[in-house]
Amino acid sequence: TRVEFLDYEAVVDYGWSLDDDELFRKAGQADLGPDAHGRLLVHPDESLLEAAERSGFAWPFSCRGGACANCAVYLAEGELSQPTDHIMPEDLAERGFRLSCNGYPLTDELSVVFNVKQRPELDDLIL
Ligand code: FES
Repeated sequence: TRVEFLDYEAVVDYGWSLDDDELFRKAGQADLGPDAHGRLLVHPDESLLEAAERSGFAWPFSCRGGACANCAVYLAEGELSQPTDHIMPEDLAERGFRLSCNGYPLTDELSVVFNVKQRPELDDLIL
């Protein structure tokens, strides 16, 4: 699975919105560093977080077991699995929030914003 990623810090810095359809196009035109915006590949049987780490990126995480939301990402495109053993509330999942530590790609392409743990709606979930 091919993943285009974007750091939520950049979304905040530029005053962009997560539900902006043009978000990744804007990111492509901004002068962002390779850690903030780019692409990576997820191998079969690899979680999104594992793939990011293998690719040399330091995305946030803590428990690695679906219990804390430090690893949360926002899915702009594609689908990432959500194992039953997780703390992400239904309403946030419906809005596209997923956990990268135990999320496995279900589509060939994904666009994700990582580092969304600082979003206020995720505050209560961070342990
Ligand atoms: Fe804790 Fe993913 S690192 S839920």
